[in-house]
Amino acid sequence: MILYNPIIALKHILHCRAEAKPVKHARASSNSDSSDTTNLQDSKQKATAVALSKVGPGCSKFCWCGRRGFVGAALLPILLDQPSYAALDSYTPADPMNMLNRIHPPRPDWYEEFYASTMNSTMKSYEAEIAGYKSQIFAKLRENSNKILELGIGTGPNLKYYASNGVDVVGVDPNQKMEKYARAAAASTGLPSEKFKFIRAVGEALPIEDASIDAVVGTLVLCSVKDVDTTLQEVRRVLKPGGLYLFVEHVAAKDGTILKFVQGVMDPLQQTVADGCHLSRNTGASIAAAGFSSVNMNMVFLPALSLIGPHVYGTARK
Ligand SMILES: C[S@@+](CC[C@H](N)C(=O)[O-])C[C@H]1O[C@@H](n2cnc3c(N)ncnc32)[C@H](O)[C@@H]1O
Repeated sequence: MILYNPIIALKHILHCRAEAKPVKHARASSNSDSSDTTNLQDSKQKATAVALSKVGPGCSKFCWCGRRGFVGAALLPILLDQPSYAALDSYTPADPMNMLNRIHPPRPDWYEEFYASTMNSTMKSYEAEIAGYKSQIFAKLRENSNKILELGIGTGPNLKYYASNGVDVVGVDPNQKMEKYARAAAASTGLPSEKFKFIRAVGEALPIEDASIDAVVGTLVLCSVKDVDTTLQEVRRVLKPGGLYLFVEHVAAKDGTILKFVQGVMDPLQQTVADGCHLSRNTGASIAAAGFSSVNMNMVFLPALSLIGPHVYGTARK
């Protein structure tokens, strides 16, 4: 994971200090999916104050120093301010080709290939580290999830979790050079090639019909898109009612921590060497505020990953 570990030496200093952005207050509500532990809904619903900030910096009430025994089943609720959803109601998708050319114009072939092959060869240790968390969320895919869209599919490391169930998979990625790796990953799970479609596009404007997808998968992609909120609106738009969004994202460390400071310093370099990946996004807050009917979000810190140690993972239902 050369792209993601420029300051591994700092990890022992930092590893107990990471935390996602503190929240001011929270709202909980009833939920149609009883498996969800955290429900973030309409801003008119009653507030239930469970501020993550009370968890405090470092290893206090809930330790998320990356040792799964500590984090364990501690499914920390991330409960955040909700926006007015009036803006979401008036949301209209942009033209996919325009958006692709505007925000991800073609890079030189060698760069796209370099990035794709680097992702393909350097992510194994990351995948091993995150496997337990991915297994938890992919277990939530129901049998009737027939059509799955993977956002920023990259080299296809998630296909092994779901592609063997006779599903149809649409992989979206602006980097055309990812296709051959994703196809190989699909084939290795036994997914027939006619059931895998690769589309060169961006998450901000998906060339996919409204309400046509059973589940959207996105891992390590909201760090890379240009516009997180628009991408999340696109996820909502393409999902069928009740459809599931599964996510694993690295996020900003807690405000005031050394790690947050270092992430800020390294962010411009990371964006340059890792194809636009941002280190200090509060992606958990964005997901929680995106207007899903329920969100089940957990946090974990993976110390071996250094700057991208703080993660959120979970599911959201349309
Ligand atoms: C860090 S890689 C992660 C790939 C894969 N999801 C994984 O977990 O290994 C980020 C991926 O997002 C893609 N990407 C970048 N900008 C994007 C955008 N605006 N919309 C969708 N995908 C994007 C990149 O081409 C790359 O494949």
